[in-house]
Amino acid sequence: MYVMPKFVVHGGKPLTGTINVCGSKNAALKALPLALMTKEVIVIKNLPEIEDVFRAGEMLRALGHSVEKRAGGAVGVKQKNSDSTTLPAELVNKFRASIMFVGPLLATRGEARFPHPGGCVIGAGTRPIDLFLGGFEKMGAVLETEDNYYRLTAKKLKGANIFFPTITVTGTESLMMTACLADGITILKNCAMEPEISALADFLNSIGAKINGAGTSTIVIRGVRKMGGGEYEIIPDRIEAGTFATMAAASNSGSVLINNCEPAHLEALWAQFDKAGVNYKLAKNSVKISPSKKIKACGIKTHEYPGFATDLQSAYTVLMTQAEGSSLIHEVIYDRRLLFSDLLTQMGANIIMADPHRVVVEGPTQLFGKKLISPDLRAGMALVIAALIAEGKTEIDNIYQIERGYEDLSGRLRQLGADVERVDS
Ligand code: EPZ
Repeated sequence: MYVMPKFVVHGGKPLTGTINVCGSKNAALKALPLALMTKEVIVIKNLPEIEDVFRAGEMLRALGHSVEKRAGGAVGVKQKNSDSTTLPAELVNKFRASIMFVGPLLATRGEARFPHPGGCVIGAGTRPIDLFLGGFEKMGAVLETEDNYYRLTAKKLKGANIFFPTITVTGTESLMMTACLADGITILKNCAMEPEISALADFLNSIGAKINGAGTSTIVIRGVRKMGGGEYEIIPDRIEAGTFATMAAASNSGSVLINNCEPAHLEALWAQFDKAGVNYKLAKNSVKISPSKKIKACGIKTHEYPGFATDLQSAYTVLMTQAEGSSLIHEVIYDRRLLFSDLLTQMGANIIMADPHRVVVEGPTQLFGKKLISPDLRAGMALVIAALIAEGKTEIDNIYQIERGYEDLSGRLRQLGADVERVDS
């Protein structure tokens, strides 16, 4: 019988020392599907050891690739056979980024069959994929639905002009990657501009693609006949770095050095820290958070990159429960990403939900430990932060959701002095 692990946290311990940031989950989950675009060997370095990456590796194997561990946390991926064009439902339902495997299958094998992707429940309904399907159809694919499966077929994709009515990160990445093997030129407009998109384009270009404009709102892709092999170093995880910096600020109990990160990817967070009076110091690949005299309440409005990242909203909301005054947290991107604030209220926070996209936080409040269930990845991490600063004991169940995105979380937090155990419940 599978025993569900949980975190047991005794809060109030000072956090001091150094925590190392892992490779970006949201870059890794696009680098692995990239291997489908070529018959050559792809070597990916600095992959985080997290559940979603394990699932993506299993998906590659299911699609006929070998995935072998190499020295220094790298993996080598090589196509063994290209027969399968169906994504296994049990894997698709485990992580939203499984959608990234569809485009490369369509581009290289002429068909892709898959159920609706799963993962976090934060998006509208079941995380829509209309922008992906619309883009593939514009490139000449035929879409059919049978039972609860989608089936896309295309003899040869052709370049197209595609405008995204909603800015979508994986939508941008998926169509950018797929267009690399289409006939002719594809122009993507109103694209997302996340650093992971620029990193993915750099890697695709290094194996033969012709992509211009990644990181801006217009990307131009010239289709090529085939792609080569090569190596790819996953960029540091800016969300993990920002989460740990916010955690240190919320704990406000010692100096914490967040190492191996890229501070330039978090300018919106530093601007917010300036307003809130958080004591931080940036260096080339690290940020140091030291105790602040007082944290001032100041609101945020999440926004596509380079605005304030929606993935940092939940950690920041916990910080605001320790800030003096009232702050409005406005979650623009997702419909359900503020629902977790009710769990903070149960821990003693003073939070009023104005509507599903806005909460008002009144601080500072003392938080108290509770038995909790992690609703999703980023909310789960926010509950860990709340548990670290709460008085007493907190138990957090369903930590699979948290371990989808944070490698060895309890081990790394213990190194900072936290009292957190991962136990089988
Ligand atoms: C990526 O999700 C990230 N995931 C998310 O991180 C992140 O929160 C999100 O971008 C926004 O920054 C990965 O990269 C694997 P979207 P993605 O498509 O691409 C709507 C985490 O915690 N939309 O940019 O799935 C959608 O409903 C995860 O690491 C459509 O309407 O997000 C949302 O409101 C959570 N139709 C908005 O666009 C579509 O076809 C932005 O979503 C696609 C998206």
